[in-house]
Amino acid sequence: MIDPTGRVMMISGANRGIGAALAQQFHSDGWIVSLGARNIGDLRSSIQGWADQDVSCHEYDALDPASGDAWVNATMDLHGRVDGLTNNAGIGHMESLADLSEDVLDEMWAVNVKGPLHLIRQALPLLAASGEGRIVNVVSLSGKRVKGTFAPGYAMSKHAFLALHHAVRHATFDDGIRVTAICPGYVETDMTSSFGVDPAIMIQPEDLAETVATVVRLPNTATVAEVLMTCEPEVLG
Ligand SMILES: NC(=O)c1ccc[n+]([C@@H]2O[C@H](COP(=O)([O-])OP(=O)(O)OC[C@H]3O[C@@H](n4cnc5c(N)ncnc54)[C@H](OP(=O)(O)O)[C@@H]3O)[C@@H](O)[C@H]2O)c1
Repeated sequence: MIDPTGRVMMISGANRGIGAALAQQFHSDGWIVSLGARNIGDLRSSIQGWADQDVSCHEYDALDPASGDAWVNATMDLHGRVDGLTNNAGIGHMESLADLSEDVLDEMWAVNVKGPLHLIRQALPLLAASGEGRIVNVVSLSGKRVKGTFAPGYAMSKHAFLALHHAVRHATFDDGIRVTAICPGYVETDMTSSFGVDPAIMIQPEDLAETVATVVRLPNTATVAEVLMTCEPEVLG
């Protein structure tokens, strides 16, 4: 296992939901965490109670690639290294095939696919310099299967993200970078609050975060390409 102490992990969309759980978990495991969010005030409020000098807060909007560049550069300037990048920020529009507009589709493509692509490219030389760089892509089971008539545009964007994930995995292996996609079903966050599914049956963000934190500590000789996590009896194969 690698020792996260003193290593630097960037996490997008860290102000709430899965991203907030990942931020706290990585931090308690010893990582220095560089957190990106659209609203820096919300981000600072969300980390009250556990943040210390090993936490930094940065503005990041996936729709503004320059903010991604600035976040990567600021992380390097402040902490002197970048060892990990967790692409968590994402949006889900749930319109049916008939109602899905081009604008909504474009926004999901920009946030769920192009945002991670841009951050990965920007961080790549720094992750390679680490020798044990880690990328976590928070995809979805909607990147693995299409669930009936549910959220076709979201599934399209997440399938594209999973394709990007595997392309990056292949392209960076020789640089010592290990890339993991986490593909959960329902997780209890704001995103699923209007789905009409009982929150009590959903994956808890903290359980997902603990799983991811374990996977990123594995040595370069034991890489986990995909983690499929369900809270119901899904047909996955
Ligand atoms: N919840 C689930 O069941 C589930 C299942 C599978 C995969 N996922 C994936 O997990 C990730 C996190 O989702 P969640 O459930 O934690 O949802 P959430 O509670 O709605 O949080 C979404 C996060 O993404 C951020 N975000 C949205 N648009 C952004 C943009 N343009 N630039 C930067 N950040 C942006 C949000 O920031 P603001 O606070 O500023 O809006 C927020 O921090 C997403 O990629 C989602 O697709 C979720």
